[in-house]
Amino acid sequence: PSAVIVAIDGPSGTGKSSTSKAVAAKLGLRYLDTGAQYRAITWWMITNGVDTEDPHAIAVAAGKPAIVSGTDPCAPTITVDGLDASGPIRTKEVTSKVSAVSAVPEVRTRITELQRTIAADADGGIVVEGRDIGTTVLPDADLKVFLTASAEARAARRSGELKGKEATDLAATKEALIKRDAADSGRKTSPLAKAGDAVEVDTTELTLDQVIECVVTLVEEKR
Ligand code: C5P
Repeated sequence: PSAVIVAIDGPSGTGKSSTSKAVAAKLGLRYLDTGAQYRAITWWMITNGVDTEDPHAIAVAAGKPAIVSGTDPCAPTITVDGLDASGPIRTKEVTSKVSAVSAVPEVRTRITELQRTIAADADGGIVVEGRDIGTTVLPDADLKVFLTASAEARAARRSGELKGKEATDLAATKEALIKRDAADSGRKTSPLAKAGDAVEVDTTELTLDQVIECVVTLVEEKR
């Protein structure tokens, strides 16, 4: 089978990461979590004292951190200036600031370049998940999937993931998630959006295995 490029977009809590990793592992493809890259640059801004409310300061610093993503779907990694950032990028602080940082055009240009290079170097094909992959980063992807789910289902999934890590409450998780999606959908530069040629899959009533199966079938039809 030829190298296939798969773009998986959608708001938070729709199962994008779990689905993308499993599909890539099943089909022998590489995997890229683009949200992790935006989280990584946000974490770098925070730890280096850049005011994440100041788009100009963010723009000036956007080129500074070295961000390297490992693309093994079974063990994805991300380093910032050589430091393992997989843990720190998942904190509430990063989650609450990532939308503002990722709305800055200089940040998007920088991260989009990294993404295109990784996709072009992925010999056997790759699954790339994010918000603007089908619309902006890889408009010529072989398959574009847009995952959706009700706000209730998304909040319940996200709060299940967070359990044990940080104190969570369902209402607060839902509110934070809706706020982040509104910011991501409302920004000027490459907002969260479904590409015209994307296949929309509503995961509200589906199990993770069903979503994986559905996407695997869609990829196989393209190979
Ligand atoms: O997918 P995840 O929740 O980790 O993404 C974190 C944030 O990164 C999103 O809320 C969004 O602000 C940003 N993001 C983006 N474009 C992408 C992927 C993520 O702006 N392709």
